[in-house]
Amino acid sequence: MLMKHALAVVTGGGSGIGFAAAERFVAEGARVVISGRNAEKLQRAAQKLGENALPVVADAAIADDMRRLYETATGHFQCKVDVVVANAGVSRQTPVRDTSLEQFSDVLNTNVGGVYATVREALPFLARPASIILVASLAANQGTKNFSAYCASKAAVVSLAKSFAAEFVESGIRVNSISPGVANTPIFDSLGMTEAQLLEWSRVIPMKRPAEPAEIAAAILFLASDASRYMTGADLAVDGGMSGISPF
Ligand SMILES: NC(=O)c1ccc[n+]([C@@H]2O[C@H](COP(=O)([O-])OP(=O)(O)OC[C@H]3O[C@@H](n4cnc5c(N)ncnc54)[C@H](OP(=O)(O)O)[C@@H]3O)[C@@H](O)[C@H]2O)c1
Repeated sequence: MLMKHALAVVTGGGSGIGFAAAERFVAEGARVVISGRNAEKLQRAAQKLGENALPVVADAAIADDMRRLYETATGHFQCKVDVVVANAGVSRQTPVRDTSLEQFSDVLNTNVGGVYATVREALPFLARPASIILVASLAANQGTKNFSAYCASKAAVVSLAKSFAAEFVESGIRVNSISPGVANTPIFDSLGMTEAQLLEWSRVIPMKRPAEPAEIAAAILFLASDASRYMTGADLAVDGGMSGISPF
């Protein structure tokens, strides 16, 4: 599948990695539908992307919202969906002693339930072949103090990609996950992290800097396109060396 004229749906496409992926898809000649909960943010993002982008307000963790999104996308562009990027996600500091089961479940509901609904509701609307990319994280494989909910949710996302891949391999649907390390996006605003804390994190990255969203988008484009046609059930690390290189 070439990206020219392809239809891609990117959840959480109004900012950060999702927006960068949408921007890259449009630059390659694709049409994109971006979704999120904040209508104004989506509208601004769609304006920047131009006429080949359609914003749809939809909560990724609500199945009815996702069904409506795919109906709107395929109706508007009059074709099936070639690429789904299940990117919407939240990060919260959840120190175990101070985090209720409800707060824990809230992170899991968005990051895992949202990915599940995004993929499940897409199925009747997918072209063949199709490529699904789940945005996981380096955190899937690294226990991180105060982030147990987020880490557990991302481990589940990597696992979902593998089981989805197994279930869909004979129907021409590829499913892979991508695991960014630290990328420079608004997700850190919601964590209340200071510049100094982010700099501290950057020091342990072998490449000594966070990724720009466009660098993660380049890997998402690879998984979306024919260039990765022999890949399914894989997790692609895009982390400046964090998962592969010892700090010693
Ligand atoms: N930045 C990093 O260092 C990093 C590293 C590894 C993995 N990731 C993952 O990358 C993905 C994108 O994050 P980002 O860093 O680009 O941060 P971001 O700019 O905050 O993007 C997250 C997007 O998800 C949307 N979203 C959140 N909950 C949603 C829901 N229930 N339904 C629909 N949309 C929802 C948000 O839009 P609304 O507020 O409008 O809903 C937002 O546009 C996330 O899954 C994140 O976990 C990020």
